[in-house]
Amino acid sequence: MVGAALDIFSKGGFAFLSRWAHVVVGITWIGLLYYFNFVQVPAFAEMEGAARNNAIDKLASRALWWFRWAAVATVVTGLLILGFQDEFTKSSYFKSPGGIAIASGILLALTMFVNVWGIIWRNQKIVIANARNVQAGGEADPAAAAAGRKALLASRMNTIFSLPMLVFMIGASHFETFFNNGLRGFNLDGAHRGLYWGIMIVVWIVFELNALGKIGGTAPGGTNVIYDTHKNAIITGACYAVFVLLVFSLVLAA
Ligand code: HEM
Repeated sequence: MVGAALDIFSKGGFAFLSRWAHVVVGITWIGLLYYFNFVQVPAFAEMEGAARNNAIDKLASRALWWFRWAAVATVVTGLLILGFQDEFTKSSYFKSPGGIAIASGILLALTMFVNVWGIIWRNQKIVIANARNVQAGGEADPAAAAAGRKALLASRMNTIFSLPMLVFMIGASHFETFFNNGLRGFNLDGAHRGLYWGIMIVVWIVFELNALGKIGGTAPGGTNVIYDTHKNAIITGACYAVFVLLVFSLVLAA
């Protein structure tokens, strides 16, 4: 009845439902990412060992469950929007302003997803196992601190990526109005798109390699200064968001 009234059982209806679900689970994922970065990490740094181990066991492990499965749900619902959306089936979609924006957003979001499952969760499992073992009276795992550090770098990197990623998620539907309200068209030939992707990919690779410790190692300072505090990560992410908007505008908008 409601389905029929809203015409929900149609391709457009499913695209709408996927979009709605995508934003709900996306909020859950990124909301928890911000909770870890802005609330939990600074709070844990001030807590005593025993209290921290208990919080890792009871609180962080639960938050991480929602975090990593919300990441899966975000990718799945994002792909569903693409599948149900008519634009996607046009061969020229990824050469259009909306298609280029969403492809750029998906590149960053998929990197964040790989960081969640491949680095953050893999290392947090070591941290959680250590906290539980110590609580039960066992020996501390000497590898736990290094594992926590690797997870922290990837988590702060994801905070940085989240800001430009959301510029693109929103830009996919709104860049055209945004730029055309200034009565500007787009330069979307191969040369302009090539230049755009060249810049985006180099910056993305440099950031990710840095988060993996391949450029400045894993110690604080140097190129890792962007991860040293959550404030530094927010500033870097905001600059990255402005940067991608400028590249889109200067390279692709006429
Ligand atoms: C690999 C992962 C992801 C994929 C495949 C994906 C895919 C998509 C697609 C296809 C759209 C519709 C674009 C359009 O309007 O044409 C979209 C929009 C959006 N996405 Fe994602 N996305 C991903 C990750 C994320 C994440 C992590 C967030 C975080 C909150 C997010 C938030 C949004 C938002 C807010 C919109 C705008 C909805 C709208 O304007 O209607 N997405 N995404």
